[in-house]
Amino acid sequence: MIDTNTTGHGKWSSRFTYILAATGSAVGLGNIWKFPYITGENGGGAFVLVYLACVLVIGIPIMMAETMLGRRSQRNPIEAMELLTKEASADSHWHYLGWMGVIAGLLILSYYSVIAGWASAYVLKAFTGSFIDADATAIKSLFDSFVGSPIQLIFWHTLFMLATMVIVVRGINNGLEKAVQYLMPALFVLMFLLVAYAMTTDSYFKGLHFLFSPDFSKLTGNSVLTAMGHAFFTLSLGMGAIMVYGSYLSKDISISKTVYLIAGADTVVALLAGIAIFPIVFENNLHPSSGPGLIFETLPIAFGAMTGGWLMGVLFFIMLAVAALTSSISLIEPAVAWLVENRGFTREKACLWSGGATWFLGLGTVFSFNVWSDFKLFDRTLFQLLDYLTANLMLPIGGFCIAVFAGWIMNAKHSEEELAMQTPAGFQVWKLLVSYVAPAAVFLVFLHVIGVL
Ligand code: TRP
Repeated sequence: MIDTNTTGHGKWSSRFTYILAATGSAVGLGNIWKFPYITGENGGGAFVLVYLACVLVIGIPIMMAETMLGRRSQRNPIEAMELLTKEASADSHWHYLGWMGVIAGLLILSYYSVIAGWASAYVLKAFTGSFIDADATAIKSLFDSFVGSPIQLIFWHTLFMLATMVIVVRGINNGLEKAVQYLMPALFVLMFLLVAYAMTTDSYFKGLHFLFSPDFSKLTGNSVLTAMGHAFFTLSLGMGAIMVYGSYLSKDISISKTVYLIAGADTVVALLAGIAIFPIVFENNLHPSSGPGLIFETLPIAFGAMTGGWLMGVLFFIMLAVAALTSSISLIEPAVAWLVENRGFTREKACLWSGGATWFLGLGTVFSFNVWSDFKLFDRTLFQLLDYLTANLMLPIGGFCIAVFAGWIMNAKHSEEELAMQTPAGFQVWKLLVSYVAPAAVFLVFLHVIGVL
């Protein structure tokens, strides 16, 4: 994907590969696994509305900012921040932002890989016909016995981490590039088919109602934080992934247009997932708030019941695993790029170290679903703690700093040049959002959560 065959920094072969890779990074477990279950846990409609608002006024402007910082510097996030602070003659402390990003990426990947392992395991379960004619109870016990087994989870987590490392080692990989080219559109088609199935159930409108009719009494401070954090998570923002991808982008491509495309596709996939899942939830008297297992406890019921469901089940979980893979490579790439470019590691060694450490950390998430499920810190399991720390705290803080840097520190002439918006007014709107609206929104949500507001 990324051409790193020269000693320097790579370049995307075209605008299309960039869009593909960045969409691949954005669309993943966040859309299909996480969005439905956190929507279920946070009461539906009102949460969805806050999430959409955050994507629009915080996510999109920050995505442009992050891409721009990467492309301007043509460096990995740590070096990028060093270079850009020098260019703006600003305080050198800004490079800690790059550091936080690298660490956040590895922390996220440690649990992301475990869940992606579930998706991979479900390919096999679908293939061997485990879902055929199974009812909700059978599907639930299948899931419970699966996550109850540390050995199985470790096996699939290991497999997924290895797959990630193999791809990242290669840098540019025609196989994956080609595969994504077909699999991403295929994922779209399959999501539509699942929505079509959801339409045939009696609970279709109940599902839609849950998703789209906001009941603001269900919204707590923490759900607003979760919605905002998820806007960062789903767009891969706040930790340098998009910065690294932007740094491989050539100068003649419009950042704003590509960002609209990527954010749009990402949002559509998440909404389709929600529309497909909630009717099945209500139809089978399941609880929307059943947590991280939600899609694994609902979609197999649909696959087991519908004609052609065997094939759809197999295909769906393959695509989910591939969508996760194209995201996971962007979670590890900032660390690898830095080790290679600044520490003189070979790509192999860099992947081995960062992948190995992440794999080890992932064991914590594996055990938090079984042997350590009663072990809680701040009322959360290890998995929940990692998710909260990264998605709800580190990414918004990273995003806040990126917005402040792009809006206040970087020379406006430079940012205008990089963004090359079609109209001057477009640039002014972006500048307003990134300098005031996005940082203020993040700040206010934090104040609200700690109880000051
Ligand atoms: N956006 C991906 C998803 O929704 C996850 C992801 C990939 C990510 N790279 C990231 C999240 C960087 C935060 C930061 O599944």
